[in-house]
Amino acid sequence: MKKNNVDFGSIQQKYLMQCWSVQSHYAPIAVDKADGCWIYTTDGRKIFDLRSAHECINLGFRHPKVLQAMRDQMEKVVYVTDDFATRPTAQLAKTLAEITPGDPNKRVWFAQSGAAAVEAAIKAARFYKYHQMITKGLDNLSAEMQYPYPYKIISRYRSWHGSTTGAASVSGDPRRWFIEPFTMPGVKHAPDAYCYRCPFHKTYPECDIDCVEYIDQMIELEGGSNKVAAVIVEPIVGSNGIIPPPEGYFPRLREICNKWDVVLIVDETMTGLGRTGKMFAIEHYNTVPDIIVTGKALGVYCPLTATIFSSKIAQVFENNVFGHGQSFSGHALACAAALASIKVLDEEGILDRVKEMGQYLGNRLKSLQQAHKSVGDVRGIGLFWTIELVKNRQTKEPFRKQTEKYTHNVVTEISEYLLRKKNIYIPADKFGIWIVPPLIVKNEEIDFLVDSIDEALKIADDKVT
Ligand SMILES: Cc1ncc(COP(=O)(O)O)c(C=O)c1O
Repeated sequence: MKKNNVDFGSIQQKYLMQCWSVQSHYAPIAVDKADGCWIYTTDGRKIFDLRSAHECINLGFRHPKVLQAMRDQMEKVVYVTDDFATRPTAQLAKTLAEITPGDPNKRVWFAQSGAAAVEAAIKAARFYKYHQMITKGLDNLSAEMQYPYPYKIISRYRSWHGSTTGAASVSGDPRRWFIEPFTMPGVKHAPDAYCYRCPFHKTYPECDIDCVEYIDQMIELEGGSNKVAAVIVEPIVGSNGIIPPPEGYFPRLREICNKWDVVLIVDETMTGLGRTGKMFAIEHYNTVPDIIVTGKALGVYCPLTATIFSSKIAQVFENNVFGHGQSFSGHALACAAALASIKVLDEEGILDRVKEMGQYLGNRLKSLQQAHKSVGDVRGIGLFWTIELVKNRQTKEPFRKQTEKYTHNVVTEISEYLLRKKNIYIPADKFGIWIVPPLIVKNEEIDFLVDSIDEALKIADDKVT
């Protein structure tokens, strides 16, 4: 190993504050370059990135068309404020307005993190409802409804919306606990649409999707339209276990939000831009949200996220201040990368490929369920899959509880084994094994990944009770 290569690994280890980690355990692997689905290390290893760099690198590393678009844009303008217009910023806002579900007459706000985009969604939803109330006139409201204005936000327990205070408050993930008790007021958590572990101990479809009906009741008991501003959900739960909802969940949630005139915010930070085989995962459920948040893969190699407001929400800001902002909003270089990536998804037929590869991957993963007694559930869609591990299939006792995010357990052991023995980087901070490869993954790479997971699952099988 060359001395300078050793140096930057140890320098980073010493000076970087790693996210969500005990710093004395931090041991970064020094990287020489990354290409396609693979990361090449300075000590000669070639590692498959099975988490697509925090689900950001959907097109794999160094996609030539995206890099070229970035080079071209860098020669013109990297960033100017939104008092100026640039081609990529304008074009990306228009494109997102057009390719997201619903009437294209939308407005888009850009940020650099999913959390910041979620904060904008919450603030705008609350302002929309406030505006509605003052337009109605306080005299037309019963006394107990006059103060404060609708501010409550309903989200779900198994959810992650980001680490800033508002976004973490609406999250149910244990990472929310790091800000307690100073969470944002007004958040109410609803039961999850988690069929494998139904909170009502029922089975779909006989359950009549009680988890969504519960939200109807929650809104009523929380004060209805006069107190509740929004419901925020991931279309398919990401960080908390890759959980697709049962069919019918979203159309019914839309009906409930319409009934109470509550804003429906769909957080596509992890699922947007083709991960599930549709440009946006909510398209699987024929539902049009009022606000869509997207991020991660949007900017490909640049931090870029977006809050996309339907005309219903956007119109209240035509004559009122959108009281939100960020220094680098609408960054031209990041927008150029995003536009290039949307073009690549289209030109290279990647969405169809994801559907096809997703079927292949899903079938192969499901066959592991028969072969391994530690596999409780295999679920997913497109190239977004998880294997949930259990100590006992009958009781569904988990190896790792939702509340044990930071404990060393079988999931950690499997991910360590895969990295050490198979050169596969797979998320260890999850509740099960994740199979979230870049969307350009090849058949033979999927075979290699599934064969390796098959081998590693023996670690869990040995611990089944
Ligand atoms: C659904 C969802 N929303 C928001 C976020 C937060 O995004 P960021 O880490 O860019 O702030 C995440 C991150 O994992 C996410 O999965």
